[in-house]
Amino acid sequence: MNHQEEYMDIHKELLPYAVVHLFFIELEQKGDVKSYCNGANATGRWIFQIFNREFVEELAQVINRALGKRRKNPPVLEVMSGDGRLIEFLKPLIKRRCIATDSKDGRYNIGYPKWVETLDAMTAVEKYSPAFIIMCWEPYLSTVGIDIVKTKVPTAWIGNPNMCGHTDIFEQPHIPMQSKYALSRHDYFLARNFKTDIFFFNCKPEWIHS
Ligand SMILES: C[S@@+](CC[C@H](N)C(=O)[O-])C[C@H]1O[C@@H](n2cnc3c(N)ncnc32)[C@H](O)[C@@H]1O
Repeated sequence: MNHQEEYMDIHKELLPYAVVHLFFIELEQKGDVKSYCNGANATGRWIFQIFNREFVEELAQVINRALGKRRKNPPVLEVMSGDGRLIEFLKPLIKRRCIATDSKDGRYNIGYPKWVETLDAMTAVEKYSPAFIIMCWEPYLSTVGIDIVKTKVPTAWIGNPNMCGHTDIFEQPHIPMQSKYALSRHDYFLARNFKTDIFFFNCKPEWIHS
């Protein structure tokens, strides 16, 4: 594809891992991964974690196990959700109300939809008392994730441990998913050098690897 043409939006719909991986190999060969992820694509979308069907399904499976069969109905809450695409992909797979929130702090040129509630992460946790929290690509050196996992609510933290949030979060007990399907803007796709994972806090091992 030449640079006059627009690249498709890889998050327009939830595509299989193999398709998404191949798409990024081709972008990498053209040296376009960074610009693509910074909005040089058909919808101007910013992309941090690169979602695909297998990745979303394995995350949904853990969340559903954590929710169990309890009658109480606290929601699943995504904080720092950006454009809310992850929760949109998860919603059909999760049998619980799902809420997306973000402070919309203006540091990134993310297209925030109105339905993503403008809310600081800790305020959102206090407001919704969620059964499960999702956090994807917490900004570098932010310590909010540490405060969140200390609330003891089951949490999925997604990202590159060296470039997202604060490394002290890993002093809290956690279980890595060791996902084969985690793709991100920091990866080397052809070399299969992948930098991200899902890290579960306040979760039982049998929810993750059973
Ligand atoms: C790197 S972006 C990731 C967005 C999204 N989770 C994704 O993976 O595409 C980080 C997001 O966190 C939000 N954010 C940063 N600090 C926050 C806070 N204290 N509370 C809520 N949102 C916050 C920013 O507005 C931004 O949308």
